[in-house]
Amino acid sequence: MLIRRGTPADHAAIADVHRDAFADLQPPGAESVGEVDLVAALRDSDAWLPELALVADVDGRVVGHICLTRAQLTPVDADSVPVLALGPVGVLSGEQRGGVGSALIHAALGGADALGERLVGLVGHDEYYPRFGFRRGASVGIEPDVADWAAHFQVRRLDADTGLLGVFRYAPPFYA
Ligand SMILES: CC(C)(COP(=O)(O)OP(=O)(O)OC[C@H]1O[C@@H](n2cnc3c(N)ncnc32)[C@H](O)[C@@H]1OP(=O)(O)O)[C@@H](O)C(=O)NCCC(=O)NCCS
Repeated sequence: MLIRRGTPADHAAIADVHRDAFADLQPPGAESVGEVDLVAALRDSDAWLPELALVADVDGRVVGHICLTRAQLTPVDADSVPVLALGPVGVLSGEQRGGVGSALIHAALGGADALGERLVGLVGHDEYYPRFGFRRGASVGIEPDVADWAAHFQVRRLDADTGLLGVFRYAPPFYA
């Protein structure tokens, strides 16, 4: 398996990955898979960071995708600080539980760290992300701006600055 940046030639395969990975997680009656639309909207937005949008490639076949996009953290009495949001991350259903998701997450976090990024936030499975160093946001003083997301909101600090506290805001497409 190769972890590499996604290219325009991968866009259709990336959509296929998320359509398959998230198919069973859609609300009843959904006409399309929200994560497919979200990736497309993020790619067209200022929040897109091509160096942190990665695919897992097995013999030329895209089996997984992850993106980290620009988000903001606003302390109580200071200006916003640029941070990152993780997601969507998806792996083809037939390829799950084989290490692909872990490889994508480690590669994306390592890339973000190398670029000097400070913090990554996400809303996701409570049992999955702690193995990558994520902690409940509330336990480290960081909350999402949508209260409904708080229960599964997690953050991973990439620097040692534990004084970075505040309200986390995703890129606009996450609110559409
Ligand atoms: C979540 C996902 C990206 C993980 O990728 P993956 O390639 O299956 O994961 P890995 O093989 O690297 O890791 C497997 C481990 O993760 C755990 N795991 C996978 N999905 C999990 C989930 N939804 N909840 C809790 N644990 C999960 C497995 O139990 C396994 O644990 P183990 O190593 O202790 O046995 C993938 O399962 C997926 O695409 N799921 C559907 C879409 C989704 O839920 N995306 C994330 C939204 S937050």
